[in-house]
Amino acid sequence: MIFCRLTLFVVCLYFVCSRLRDKITELLYNFKDRFALSYGLKLYNHGGVMKNTAAKGTQDILPEISSAWEHIEDKFREICQLYGYEEIRTPTFEHTEVFARGVGETSDVVQKEMYTFEDKGNRSITLRPEGTAGIVRSFIENGMNSLAFPVKLFYEITAFRYENVQKGRYREFHQLGVEAFGAEGPFIDAEMLAMLQHFFKALGLKQINLEINSLGTLESRAVYRETLLGYLRPHKNELCEDCQARMEENPLRVLDCKNDHCHEITKSAPLILDYLDEESEAHFNKLQELLDNLGVEYKVNPKIVRGLDYYSKTVFEFISENVGTQGTICGGGRYDGLIKLMGGQDTPGIGFALGEERLLLELEAQGVLRNDRPVADVFIASLDDEALEAAQKLSQELRYLGIRAQYELTGRSLKAQMKYAGKQGAKNLIVLGGDELSEGKAAVRSLVEKDKAEHEFDLDHVEVLADYLKN
Ligand code: HAM
Repeated sequence: MIFCRLTLFVVCLYFVCSRLRDKITELLYNFKDRFALSYGLKLYNHGGVMKNTAAKGTQDILPEISSAWEHIEDKFREICQLYGYEEIRTPTFEHTEVFARGVGETSDVVQKEMYTFEDKGNRSITLRPEGTAGIVRSFIENGMNSLAFPVKLFYEITAFRYENVQKGRYREFHQLGVEAFGAEGPFIDAEMLAMLQHFFKALGLKQINLEINSLGTLESRAVYRETLLGYLRPHKNELCEDCQARMEENPLRVLDCKNDHCHEITKSAPLILDYLDEESEAHFNKLQELLDNLGVEYKVNPKIVRGLDYYSKTVFEFISENVGTQGTICGGGRYDGLIKLMGGQDTPGIGFALGEERLLLELEAQGVLRNDRPVADVFIASLDDEALEAAQKLSQELRYLGIRAQYELTGRSLKAQMKYAGKQGAKNLIVLGGDELSEGKAAVRSLVEKDKAEHEFDLDHVEVLADYLKN
C-alpha cells in the first residue's frame, strides 16, 4: 500500500515538475524573442523613424524611365556584337584581394571607396567597384588564354563605390564596358575608340569629346614618376590635402586634380608624353594615324592619367560639357601588365567602361533621350463578368500572336475602363459583351485615328484580328 502511494507521489511530482520546466522554458523563449525583436528594431529604426527611403547614392529606376535604359543597353549590345564582342557576366562580389590587387592599392577606389565586409565564413568580400578586375580574374580562372586571341568580352553591370554623392556620381551605378585580351598593337585601341564613336552616334549624340594620352610602359612611367616628383616636392605645401597625402605614392594623380591651386601648379609640370620610350611613342603615334584614318575626332591631353592603377600606354576619356563636374562619361585604356600581376600569363589587355547614369544625363542634355514606353496594341473592355472571362481568353490568344493586349483587372465601370485605356495610350479598343459577344463577334475601334471606322471580327478567327491590330 505504502509502495503504491509512493509511486503515485513520484509520478505526480514528475508531472508537475515537467509542466513547470515547460512553462519556464516558454517564458525564457518569449523573453528572448522580445529582446531580439527590440534589438532588431534598434538596428533598423534610426531614432524611432523607419528608414523607408533608398540608401544614399542609390536610385530606383522606375517604369517611366526604364525604356530609356533598355534602349541604351540594347544598342550597346547590338554594337558590341557588330564588333565581335561576346557577353560575360561575373559575380557582383569578389574576394577583396581581386580588387586590391587588380584596381591597385594606391587608387582612391581601393583606399576609400570600396564596400568591403566580412561574410559569415570570415572571408573579406567586396562589392565590385568596377568590372575589369573581376573579368581578369575570370579570364585567368577559366583558362581563357587558351582561346583564340583576341578574346573580346562585353558587360553590363552595376558597380558600387562609397563616394561623395552628387549629380552624376552615385554609390550604386551602372557601367557598360568591354575588355579585349591578347591584341598588342594599336589597331585594337583604334577600333575600340571607333566603336565607341559608333555607339554614341547610334544613340543620336552630336557632340562628345574624346581625349587620349599615353602613360607609357611601366619602365618609362617609372622614369617620369621620379621627374614629376622632383617637380612637385617643392610645391607640396601649396597642394590640396588629398594631393599632399597621395603625392609620394601616386604623383600622377596630382595631374588630374580638379582643385584650382593644384591645377595652377601642374600647368608647368613635365609632360608624360616627353618621357615615353620608343615602343610607347610608336604605339601612340600609330594610334593617332589610325584614328585619323577612321575619322575619329580626338584631342591629345597629356594630363589624362586615369584613377585606377592598372593602365599602361593608351588611356582615354570621353568628356561631356553637360554633366557638370562629373563630365567623364567613359574611361578606359590599355592594361598590358594586369593579367600577369593577377597571376595569369603575360597577356595584353585593353578596355573601357561608360557610366549609364552619366550617359543618360548627356542624352537628355542634347535632347536625344529616347524613352519609348511600350503601349498596349489593344485594350479589351468588358461589360459584365461573362465578358471579362472572354476578354481574358481573347487577350491570352492575342498575346500568343504577338499582340500587346490588356483587359480590365480591377473591376472598373465601362466608362472608367475606356478612360483608363485612353490614359494608358492603348492604340485600339474592343468592348466585349451583349448580343455581339453571344454571336462570337467583337468590334475594334482605333483610339489613335478617331475617324477610322469600326471593324467587326469573328472571335473564332483571332489570327485575322491579330493581323489587323499589327498593321
Ligand atoms: P572608371 O573611370 O573608374 O573606369 O569608370 C568608368 C566610368 O564609370 C566613368 O567614366 C563614369 O562614367 C562611371 N562612373 C564611375 N564612378 C561612378 C559613380 N560613382 N557614379 C556614376 N558613374 C560612375 C573603370 O571603371 C574601368 N574599369 C574602365 C576600364 C575598363 N578600363 C579598362 N577597362
